Amino acid sequence: MSLTLLQHPDARIIDGKAIAQTVLEEVKKEVDDFKAKGIEACLAVVLVGEDPASQVYVRNKVQKAAFVGIRSLEFRFEADLDEHALLEKIDALNADDSVHGILVQLPLPTQINETRVLERIDPKKDVDGFHSENVGGLSQGRDVLTPCTPTGCIRLLKDSLGSDLSGLHAVVIGRSNIVGKPMAALLLKENCTVTVVHSKTRNIGQVCQQADIVVVAVGKPNMVDASYLKADAVVIDVGINRIFENGKTRLVGDVDFEDALPMVSAITPVPGGVGPMTIAYLMKNTLQAVRLQYPNI
Ligand code: GUN
Repeated sequence: MSLTLLQHPDARIIDGKAIAQTVLEEVKKEVDDFKAKGIEACLAVVLVGEDPASQVYVRNKVQKAAFVGIRSLEFRFEADLDEHALLEKIDALNADDSVHGILVQLPLPTQINETRVLERIDPKKDVDGFHSENVGGLSQGRDVLTPCTPTGCIRLLKDSLGSDLSGLHAVVIGRSNIVGKPMAALLLKENCTVTVVHSKTRNIGQVCQQADIVVVAVGKPNMVDASYLKADAVVIDVGINRIFENGKTRLVGDVDFEDALPMVSAITPVPGGVGPMTIAYLMKNTLQAVRLQYPNI
């Protein structure tokens, strides 16, 4: 966090870390409620290979699970694992009634077909919300498991704008399967007017200037500045970019934060904005998966 932020706490800066902590406390309580009913929520995390970023993500997921009282199982495989062996592992986890959520950390090594793996996960245990049954369910506005990052972004928006987002114009920059597309579907479910812009869109800046809500998930440092924004817009920055500056690496988002800040009514910083929400919502999704597997409890 920069010194400026420490000296001048600004109500417009959305504190994702604090909101994620609140979400984790909510989860903790629900985990205890399930325990009282004899159910111990359990999340299985599968990691293939040695990707350093994936290793950090998996470690954080396991730590947060322990914090909220969710049992976690970690399965690590060598990078040369064949697809068949991974599919067999998923079949075993699907069949295991004591496992409620399954997460396969992406990216997978190139010899493994990602789609085949994600489609093999039981949709009721698909805590990432990547299975086509869940993607389709979300697009129909059904209550299915939805991807953690965009679901966390909706919570940040509701904490900033109130629970009713109805009628607001939201512009989503980026159309990835993990963030952009599910974000658009979730905003539509909240009755927003949704525009998705991407690398082939003409006049992105002019489109964004119409937006009450801007969600940016493209992976380009400082792509969005004040010139993209209408006064008092709410900006959610999903980007996590490592840049090299003054002999040091530092994390920045897709938004030029200092430039945008005076223009907005609320904005997420990087780090400390969206990032902590992703894991918090993975924990929420694990409980949602428990509920799907015990509909009468
Ligand atoms: N790798 C980067 N983001 C994600 C995510 O949201 N889920 C999984 N499984 N892998 C990822």
